[in-house]
Amino acid sequence: MTDVPLFASSLAPYHDRLTEAIDRVARSGRYILGPEVEAFEAEFAAYLGVGHCIGVANGTDALTIALRGLGVGPGDEVVMPSFTFYATAEAAIVAGATPVFCDIDPDTFCVTAETVRAVLTPRTKAIVPVHLFGNLAPVPALRELGVPVVEDAAQAAGATLDGVKAGALADAATFSFFPAKNLPCLGDGGAVVTDDDRVAGLARLLRFHGSTDKQTFTEVGYNSRLDEMQAAVLRVLLPELDSWNERRRAAAAAYERLGLGEHATLPHSIEGARHVYHLYVVRAERLAIGRGYYRVPVHRQPAIGSDAHLPGTEEAARTNHALPMGKDLTEDQVREVVAACASGST
Ligand SMILES: Cc1ncc(COP(=O)(O)O)c(C=O)c1O
Repeated sequence: MTDVPLFASSLAPYHDRLTEAIDRVARSGRYILGPEVEAFEAEFAAYLGVGHCIGVANGTDALTIALRGLGVGPGDEVVMPSFTFYATAEAAIVAGATPVFCDIDPDTFCVTAETVRAVLTPRTKAIVPVHLFGNLAPVPALRELGVPVVEDAAQAAGATLDGVKAGALADAATFSFFPAKNLPCLGDGGAVVTDDDRVAGLARLLRFHGSTDKQTFTEVGYNSRLDEMQAAVLRVLLPELDSWNERRRAAAAAYERLGLGEHATLPHSIEGARHVYHLYVVRAERLAIGRGYYRVPVHRQPAIGSDAHLPGTEEAARTNHALPMGKDLTEDQVREVVAACASGST
């Protein structure tokens, strides 16, 4: 068994700059919804090429708020993959809607227009494709289905499809800045992004109890804000994101070049996609190292209990293995992982 870490990324080189940013906030006296959040929202919106970014407490709330911003509520169905983190479904349920699970293409680990179309009903109010592991779901084809689309881009900060950033492809999108993500903060954080002024306005209202002025409450919302310290941290790290993603892509290329493909089916992307390898997940019936990242799909979780028939999802759940990945993964470490896969050692 190799001791290369699964998440091979360290913020050590940024400690001084992060400490400085945190100190600036600590001395400012502004901790919630102040100038750092406002500046980060503008910087992240500009980076993605969208009109609005609304900082919220985490990526799960971001999805709930984005769905409600699009008018999703009780009686509505939201189509999504089952092969994702549980939060994707949980967020729709918290919004009052019913998740309807569609299958994925096990080669990309993402939904396709065909798998989504197969479960659409007159009650479908939104589609939530997940850019899983940093790979791109085919959002333009999904938008042709005529239902609002919300990208779950929690794992795909910086990924692009035909040059357009994940997050700028649909009616709205959501991000998580959980510490293991490609763009991390030092705790929980998330964002809703959209070009739609109305959705943005509603999301801003919902993150603060459904009020703009603390006096009049026009919605039942949430207490879900990105805080000033996390925003200041994100402002230090956002300018590094593209170079970090390049390093992840170089590590993925090294896995391929050093022969991992002889032991497992390697990640595959749709045409025009620039994968950012939040995780490096391969498929194999048996592999000496790595472990299934999502082993029980969401539709079969005890709290959900759907009887959906999803063969691509079941295959992915049975055969996926996450191998070490991160901006700090070296070629020697990649070689070590490939050798461990080749030797069959455990
Ligand atoms: C695909 C996906 N959706 C949603 C979330 C939820 O984000 P958070 O943990 O910030 O609530 C995550 C992150 O864990 C995720 O990976």
